[in-house]
Amino acid sequence: MFSTKAHRTGADRMSDPNWWRQAAVYQIYPRSFYDANGDGLGDIKGVTAKVPYLKELGIDAVWLSPFYPSALADGGYDVDDYRNVDPKLGTLEDFDEMAAALHAAGIRIVVDIVPNHSSDRHEWFKEALASPKGSAARERYIFRDGRGENGELPPSDWDSVFGGPIWDRITEPDGTPGQWYMHIFAKEQPDFNWENPEIREDFLKTLRFWSDRGVDGFRIDVAHGMAKDLSEPLPMKADLEAKAHGTDGFADGSHPFWDRDEVHEVYAEWRKLFNEYNPPRTAVAEAWVHETRRARYASPEGLGQAFNFDLLQSDFDAASFKKIIADNLVAAKESGASSTWVFSNHDVVRHATRYGLPKGGSVAQGTNAAQDVTGGTKGQDGKGWLLAGAPAEELDVELGLRRARAATLLLLALPGSAYLYQGEELGLREVSEIPDAERQDPSFFRNPGVEIGRDGCRVPLPWTADGSSFGFGAGGAHLPQPEWFKDYAVSKQEGVEGSTLELYRTALRLRSELQTDEELEWVETGNQDVLHFSRPGGWHTVTNFGSDPVELPDGDVVVSSGPLDNGKLPADTTAWVVRDA
Ligand code: NOJ
Repeated sequence: MFSTKAHRTGADRMSDPNWWRQAAVYQIYPRSFYDANGDGLGDIKGVTAKVPYLKELGIDAVWLSPFYPSALADGGYDVDDYRNVDPKLGTLEDFDEMAAALHAAGIRIVVDIVPNHSSDRHEWFKEALASPKGSAARERYIFRDGRGENGELPPSDWDSVFGGPIWDRITEPDGTPGQWYMHIFAKEQPDFNWENPEIREDFLKTLRFWSDRGVDGFRIDVAHGMAKDLSEPLPMKADLEAKAHGTDGFADGSHPFWDRDEVHEVYAEWRKLFNEYNPPRTAVAEAWVHETRRARYASPEGLGQAFNFDLLQSDFDAASFKKIIADNLVAAKESGASSTWVFSNHDVVRHATRYGLPKGGSVAQGTNAAQDVTGGTKGQDGKGWLLAGAPAEELDVELGLRRARAATLLLLALPGSAYLYQGEELGLREVSEIPDAERQDPSFFRNPGVEIGRDGCRVPLPWTADGSSFGFGAGGAHLPQPEWFKDYAVSKQEGVEGSTLELYRTALRLRSELQTDEELEWVETGNQDVLHFSRPGGWHTVTNFGSDPVELPDGDVVVSSGPLDNGKLPADTTAWVVRDA
């Protein structure tokens, strides 16, 4: 059995090759974390400045969303240069300084790698546009002639994830209407051609570049999108829909661009590179694939771990939580990975909002949930983005936060890695008050009147209750912060018993003390609304999803997500109880 004790106690804490198996990983969306130079955008020096905060929080690692040079057509997931820092965010020297400070605090660094597409400002894409059809420069991306007499129709009628067509037509260097290029996401994000060895080589170089700089692991963006079979004639949307197997979609790897088996050849190569380092570099796949296909990404010969977004898509409901947890623990064991748990990230409605919405309107669908494996448009049915299915006035703020805290305390007790998203430790909910003119997300602009987009979970953090941009920086905030942020500021919660921040700090500290093996045992409660499980060492977790207070098992209640009611566990509350094993 794997143990995590070693990395917590020994001087060799930073060399434990299994550090990731039960790590608490905190996601930083750098442009909205902390702005050290007062230009309105969060930056790398801002992360360095907040290392003491991160250490105090008690996380094991940070995952940085892209900080590379970018025009921000998609929040940085449109990368101009993979081996540099966006000048708006700092320099490579700033990165090294941040890495040293994080490591000195015992915090590891995971960075985002975006291999499916570059930005349209990448040197290679500019070269492709300036070069003729059939040239080596075009071969780095996916260019095709159009259909129709003059090539005026796109090569297929597929939709992009952000809405609108997946193909865009270019103007050839001689000024004539030309070929079409493929972009699964925004038109500023042309897809790479992964059959080209030059692309493979270049990403190996990038992985080495960051590994050599001390990066401990990688989060792989759209890990299921790179391998493509685009042999002609391309099927049309209707052909694909007819071929999809009911709700399972293409669970057999036969879709032209989602989740094809060949992608694992790339990861096998990456794994060899990761294992050249000591400790081996880790990787986690962002792969929205059928659950039966997730293990391939998580295998030790591949990336090693894959996100499971099942809890994130579930209502606050005992039966579905139990099934998801049980199924994923089995699957993780079978693949040799450890499980991953996540409620919030930069793509989905924050869980404090989801749990405060009436059921049915509360489903979290981020941009990637919109990529149904059929390549269709699931998630764009009006139930997708924030509050699209439930107006803001239906939100019960207090209930949402109570449930979010209960759910998080349950999540932190599970074996496997816990992925936390900046601001959830403050109890932040989604910001729904962003005026259209100030929105940034391409999915909002490409789906007029349909998608609200992901800006509501990307608003700069409130560090103080007053002052310019609630302490985010001296220069305002790049997305507007609502007035209610002042009540959630770090300064308002630090040292305050019962605050969400102190709950996270206590739970993370206890988690690192209590956690040993990756075992979990269910305890029968005789109440379908109450989940109870134990971990080795007498650590018990009980969550009450029902409406009446329930008895807790004997032992010491070491933390609870809300006050107890005469020693009983009230509705929408979780408690950890420690008793002699
Ligand atoms: C997944 C990322 O999490 C999301 O933010 C981004 O828009 C897409 N991939 C495209 O890179």
